[in-house]
Amino acid sequence: MAKPSKKPVGITGLGMYVPSRVLTNHDVERLVDTSDEWITSRTGIKRRRIVKPGTPASDLAVRAGRKALRAAGLRPEDVELIIVATITPDTPMPSTACFVQTKLGASRAICFDIGAACSGFLYGLVTAEQYIAGGIVRNALVIGAEVLSCVTDWTDRSTCPLFGDGAGAAVLQPVRSGGILASYLGADGSLSDKLCIPAGGSRQPASRETVDRRLHTLKMHGNEVFKHAVRIMAEAGRRAMHDAKLGCADIALVIPHQANLRIINAVRERMGLPTEKVFLNVAKYGNVSAASTAMGLCEAVQRKRVVKGDIVVLVAFGAGFTWGSVVIRL
Ligand code: UT7
Repeated sequence: MAKPSKKPVGITGLGMYVPSRVLTNHDVERLVDTSDEWITSRTGIKRRRIVKPGTPASDLAVRAGRKALRAAGLRPEDVELIIVATITPDTPMPSTACFVQTKLGASRAICFDIGAACSGFLYGLVTAEQYIAGGIVRNALVIGAEVLSCVTDWTDRSTCPLFGDGAGAAVLQPVRSGGILASYLGADGSLSDKLCIPAGGSRQPASRETVDRRLHTLKMHGNEVFKHAVRIMAEAGRRAMHDAKLGCADIALVIPHQANLRIINAVRERMGLPTEKVFLNVAKYGNVSAASTAMGLCEAVQRKRVVKGDIVVLVAFGAGFTWGSVVIRL
């Protein structure tokens, strides 16, 4: 599915939030049999942010969302749609977007969550774009928010160094020109077992056994996910750029999902991009799933890596498998 948008819809405000507590690789060394050297060389991750236990994803989402609304000059009571992309919702029901609505005071907003794992923020952007372009709402707040520390198996060295907590948010509104130029989304459910949280849903409801077997935590076939991530993220990035009729020279910055530095470098090579055109913050935050590309875009703007008028490409891959790319003129 790929199509250029008709009525231009753009990002008019961005915000992010990470908890203050830092967990370094040396801290992880004290939990499992690993080393800073292994984690750094295999993933590029040096540290990650972790919430105080009991902090729900909506708390992070609200902090990021408020900043995005402020940047857009939009009052909470004027927000018409809230989409939260997350794999760590506050509760299975109701949606985290509903908790965010109440905490923000955005009582007019339609609210729902998107479950597309690390691609969730991009699925959210494309969904919100269609709501606005179709005239259903005049603005939307799209938030990627994760408390991955609560679904991490802190006894499993093959996954626990990888993940962190955080949130990133974007306000979408009609714009005169630019905005979302093209997008490309995809999924392959036949590979769902490669990266999943096996229990806690209707297939394996929570029980003493599922808890004892740690089936409420993330399980991953790292090698297989790695191979698919490289191939599909590069392909997704190229597809959306092609649809927007843009080449690498037109792009100011590519902001890939920050799962692993080696994946990002391999994607960069496949896309034929120079290092300076690829945004990185994986060393500081690790893999923050649905929050990753949102936080990346926000930081890129904060650090003035990109300015108004620049074209950025967001690209992500995650559990499902799901993937997506969005080309935006800021
Ligand atoms: O966000 C969604 C997308 N997720 C991703 O994109 C993640 C994709 N996968 C990856 O990033 C990588 O596969 C990992 C970082 C998870 C693992 O890297 P790898 O190079 O694929 O390592 P591996 O799983 O092949 O393991 C290599 C060795 C194994 O030991 P043996 O069997 O060779 O003796 C593991 O037991 O490294 C061992 N190992 C570790 N050693 C020290 C695995 N985890 C660790 C660890 N510390 N933390």
